[in-house]
Amino acid sequence: MNIKNIMVIGSGLMGSGIAQVAAQAGYNVILNDVKMELIEKGLNSITKILEGQVKKEKITAADKDATLSRISKAPSFDEAKKADFIIEAAFENFDVKKSIFEKLDAVCREDVILATNTSSIPITSLATTVKRPDKFIGMHFFSPVPLMRLVEIIPGLKTSEDTVKITQELAVNLKKETVRVKDVPGFLVNRINAAFRAEVFTCLLEGVASLEDIDKAVKLGLNHPMGPFELNDAVGLDIGLNVFRTLYEGYKDKKFRPPLILEKMVQSGDLGKKTGKGWYDYTSGEKKPRKDVNF
Ligand SMILES: NC(=O)c1ccc[n+]([C@@H]2O[C@H](COP(=O)([O-])OP(=O)(O)OC[C@H]3O[C@@H](n4cnc5c(N)ncnc54)[C@H](O)[C@@H]3O)[C@@H](O)[C@H]2O)c1
Repeated sequence: MNIKNIMVIGSGLMGSGIAQVAAQAGYNVILNDVKMELIEKGLNSITKILEGQVKKEKITAADKDATLSRISKAPSFDEAKKADFIIEAAFENFDVKKSIFEKLDAVCREDVILATNTSSIPITSLATTVKRPDKFIGMHFFSPVPLMRLVEIIPGLKTSEDTVKITQELAVNLKKETVRVKDVPGFLVNRINAAFRAEVFTCLLEGVASLEDIDKAVKLGLNHPMGPFELNDAVGLDIGLNVFRTLYEGYKDKKFRPPLILEKMVQSGDLGKKTGKGWYDYTSGEKKPRKDVNF
């Protein structure tokens, strides 16, 4: 299959990252969102990242301009007629995704593969929203997309081997490495990471070490680039809690039971960097230990 035009649905954090790597790999990208302002916001963030790459002399100014010229703005699904492959990265909500895929299914050519970047909704259930479940697949990128090298390729129950192969090849062309994963709750990476994080929370609650020392130990002893609490602050405590909820619901295994301290923190409204406070306090512009809570 000759893929030239990739449509990306959703121009947020993940969609803009996917659009960037696709355009940098030479594909024409049709970038969609519900409003033109949101597409422009996504394009602005891509432009800033590319300008940073020019400054660091990773790419030339001409590369940057050529990449941006390959991205077109598409506030309507009509543009899906031109797409050879579609990657959906809209809100993590079944009904939102259902309505998107029903519309795309009606507009797209019959041979077009529909991929979803969902982190938690079963691929097999999303595939029921289209008349081409054999051409429906999970393509799970990691944040930040331009930096993270992995893509999980997740076939649903009815996904064809051709679809798997074409999607794997596309991911490789986007300069990513792939792993093939079954359509199970949390897929692979989030499932492994949740089991690890559950132990982190147990250590915190048992007072085995302070929160700061747990982060330090994981960075220096396991060579993780960030400690689990720092990472949780960057991703958002609410997002981290949702991963536990999905896994607990999916496996009914108590190792995935959402940690009470995480529930409490989310209830308090301190969701990490985005709210100024999470496991650390960022209100001064720097990461500082919190003095105002008892963990
Ligand atoms: N953030 C992460 O670390 C991460 C990692 C892997 C996968 N994901 C998944 O990727 C998807 C997007 O996550 P995100 O973090 O980029 O979210 P985000 O909120 O940054 O972006 C989502 C975008 O989708 C747009 N959108 C909503 N409804 C739409 C519709 N009907 N049509 C077109 N666009 C629509 C929103 O306006 C928004 O711009 C989710 O399914 C999420 O679970 C996120």
